[in-house]
Parts: sequence; C-alpha cells; structure tokens
Amino acid sequence: MKLNTDFVAWFRSVAPYVNAFRGKTFVVAFGGEVVADGKFVELVHDLNLLASLGVRLVLVHGARPQIEARLQEQKLQTTYVKGMRVTDAATLQCVKESIGRVRVEIEALLSMGLPNSPMANAAIRVASGNFVTARPVGIVEGVDLMHTGEVRKVDAAAIRSRLEQGEVALLSPLGYSPTGEIFNLTLENVAAAAAIALNAEKLIFLMDTAGIEEKPTGKSGKLLRELTVAESKALLARLAAKLSADVRLYLPCAVQACEGGVARVHLISRHVDGAVLQELFTHDGIGSMISQGPLQSLRNAGVEDVGGILQLIEPLEAKGVLVRRNRELLEMEINRFVVLEHDRMIVACAALYPFPDEKASELACLAVHPDYRNAGYGDTLLKHIEARAKTQGSKKLFVLTTGAAHWFVERGFEETGVGKLPKAKQGLYNYQRRSKVFMKKI
Ligand SMILES: CC(C)(COP(=O)(O)OP(=O)(O)OC[C@H]1O[C@@H](n2cnc3c(N)ncnc32)[C@H](O)[C@@H]1OP(=O)(O)O)[C@@H](O)C(=O)NCCC(=O)NCCS
Repeated sequence: MKLNTDFVAWFRSVAPYVNAFRGKTFVVAFGGEVVADGKFVELVHDLNLLASLGVRLVLVHGARPQIEARLQEQKLQTTYVKGMRVTDAATLQCVKESIGRVRVEIEALLSMGLPNSPMANAAIRVASGNFVTARPVGIVEGVDLMHTGEVRKVDAAAIRSRLEQGEVALLSPLGYSPTGEIFNLTLENVAAAAAIALNAEKLIFLMDTAGIEEKPTGKSGKLLRELTVAESKALLARLAAKLSADVRLYLPCAVQACEGGVARVHLISRHVDGAVLQELFTHDGIGSMISQGPLQSLRNAGVEDVGGILQLIEPLEAKGVLVRRNRELLEMEINRFVVLEHDRMIVACAALYPFPDEKASELACLAVHPDYRNAGYGDTLLKHIEARAKTQGSKKLFVLTTGAAHWFVERGFEETGVGKLPKAKQGLYNYQRRSKVFMKKI
C-alpha cells in the first residue's frame, strides 16, 4: 500500500518536468568510454524514455579510447600541441576507423527493441550525416595540426527537420570542409556548437567525476550543484589546476554554450545508472548545472502560472493549512499573486489583497514547496509583499494563519483580534477555521 502511495506521489511529482521538457531539444554528449565500458545500454534505455516523452534528442559521441587503441595497434605515436592532437594522414585513418566503429555500435544499440525490455516498441530512428562543417585549426606554436579541426558551422536546419520527424540525431567528432576534407574534432566542441546552433534547452555532458568539485588542498571535494556563467568563469580562473581533467575540458564549453543561448548545461557522472534521469527529474539533481543567470527569480504571476500554483497549494489546502481556492477563483485573482521560480518551476507563492480604505493589506496564500523550505524563500516573499503593500499606501500588513504563527512573530508580527481586521475582511472571517490574526506595522 505504502509502495503504491509512494509510486503515485513520485509519478505526479514528475509531471511538471514532463510538461516542461516536451518538444525541447537536449544535446547529450558522452565520450567513447561510455561505449567501451558497455555502459551505453543503460544510457540508451534512459535516452529512449526521454525520446518517448517528446524530448528532441541530439547525441554527440566521442571516441578517444578507441582512437588511442587503434593508434597503438598501428604503432603510431601521437604528438600534442596545447592539448590538441596533431592529426596527420595516418592518424586520420585511425580516427576515421575508430569513430566509424563507435558510431555503428551506438546505432545498433539505439535500434534495440526486444519485448520485455525497456526498449520494447521503442523504434528509435537515428539520423547521422554531414551536419558539421569544419575548418583546420592550422598552425599552433609553429606546428601544423593538419587534420585537426574546429567546428565552422552546424547545419541546424537539417538537424531540426530530422528531429521534427521524430528522429534522434547522432553527431560524431568529425567534420567536413567545403573542399571535401575530413577533420578530427573534439566532442565538446561539436556538442557546444550544436547546442548553440539548435538553441537547445539543455546540453548534458557525461563525465568521469560526479560534477564540478571544488577541492581545496587537503579537503575532500565538495560538489557544486548550481553555478552561473560568472561563477564558472571565476572558478576556472581561480582553481583550474584543482579541477578534474573532465571539468577542465567541459566547463569552458559549458560557459561558451550558455553564453551562446543554451538555457542549462549539466555536468554529470557517467558511472551512475540513471544519472540523466536523476539529474533531469529530481529537485536536487545529481551533478552540476550551469546557467547564464541565477536560477531563482521572483515575478508577478500570470494566468499561465495557475497550474503551477495549484500544484503547490493543493496539498496544503488538503491539510487545512491554507484556505481552499479553486481554479476559477485563482484565475480571477492571479494578478494579486507573486511567484518564486527555481529553474523555471514555481516553488513558492504569495498574494497581496489591499484594503485601501483602512490603509491595510492582507498577505495570503504564502506557501513554499516542502523541498525548498528553510532556504529563505518565505522571507524573500514576505519582504517583497511588505514593500509592495507600502508602495500602495498601506500602513499595516496582516495575515491569518493556523500553523505558522511563530514564523510571523519572529518576523515582527503581533497577534491581534478579528475586530482589528478591515470591516470587509471581518465579514469573511471563518470562525470554524479559527485562524489566528497577526498584524505588522509597515
Ligand atoms: C511558513 C513557510 C512559508 C516558511 O517558508 P520558508 O521558505 O521555509 O521560510 P524561511 O526559509 O524564510 O524561514 C525558515 C525558518 O522558519 C522556521 N519555520 C518554518 N516554518 C515554520 C512554522 N510553521 N512555524 C515556525 N517557524 C517556522 C524554520 O524552522 C526556519 O527557522 P530556523 O532557520 O531558525 O530553523 C513555509 O513553511 C510554508 O509554506 N508553510 C505552509 C504554508 C503556511 O503555513 N503559510 C502561512 C499562512 S498564509
């Protein structure tokens, strides 16, 4: 029974994400290690789930371990300049062979459809092709990098038309030039460029570490869950040497992608089964998320927020903590509400009802999602409502509460009687609820 209740509650909690993700483009980038380790099957199950929820998927794969192995087989030495491989003709041959092999393996796994498996009825169609145009990196520190290239252009229109057909696009770290040459690219360069060109909602890098960990000398790593572009740049400037090799590789591309208009970049572990799902469908996520600006925002509510507000307040109404408001009433009074968003989900709300004749205002329907309590959101909303009431000419703010008396007392409210309420409010007072009345001079 408990299991059923948990399942239903969990399934419902996922609904806002499903709604938010439908029709959005996600670019998922992973190294050749994911394929080499045999971990790709698990990832394919999760990608299949995302695709069936209406997410438009672009996959970008790497092939570094496969290329290294092939070069060793061929007894070829590679030289690096500033971390970039010099790709001569013999190396390019190994690059082409390795990438081709990895791509075929990925396509095969994406084609699975065995009954009684997570892939039953999946029928994922994969689109790969000459979507990426490249140019040579050229000469660096006096060395010609030859077939090592960088992305010049991503054919977003072509990829989009395949995504619109319900296909999953697969990009390899190879690019072609208008002169017909092939260039060896890095997966992070391709992924960031594709995410920018497609104006993707999310770019997800699967890496060896759990996310971005700050490692002050002698202390164990602390996972940084959310960073803005400015914070990421400061981290790279301040602590680059202490960051993991993967983070040093991916974080600059994450910053570049955000600056190019990608809404969120996620750096998560490739070693955790279901990491992509945990990152996308849970409040806390599992790795690190980078965004252009802060994730929190306070704003006036609009009709489109009614659903989100209802989801937040209905459990509190059911417990009798808040007065019941149905959808119609909420729609009519929506301009009285302010909402606090975290990563585009409404996590807190409050409403202000002015009584201008008495120069008083009511703070009502203050609610913070249980997962976001004790983080100052309640305080932020109260301060905002107070300031707004003041600018509207109110001299006092009152609130009716059954369960948060102390919270208001600690914020300067004093208990008072129903008789002190504005006349119009006194007429509406519900004597059965027996809410306490608190008032504050503002
Ligand atoms: C009351 C509420 C809005 C507080 O939101 P919040 O964002 O968690 O509040 P803040 O982070 O600003 O403040 C947290 C502090 O308040 C305390 N607090 C939280 N709820 C409390 C309550 N009901 N009574 C007394 N103190 C409370 C916490 O213990 C914490 O104090 P601490 O840091 O000293 O431990 C939130 O708990 C809520 O939504 N409650 C249900 C709805 C409700 O009762 N609304 C008020 C009637 S309109």
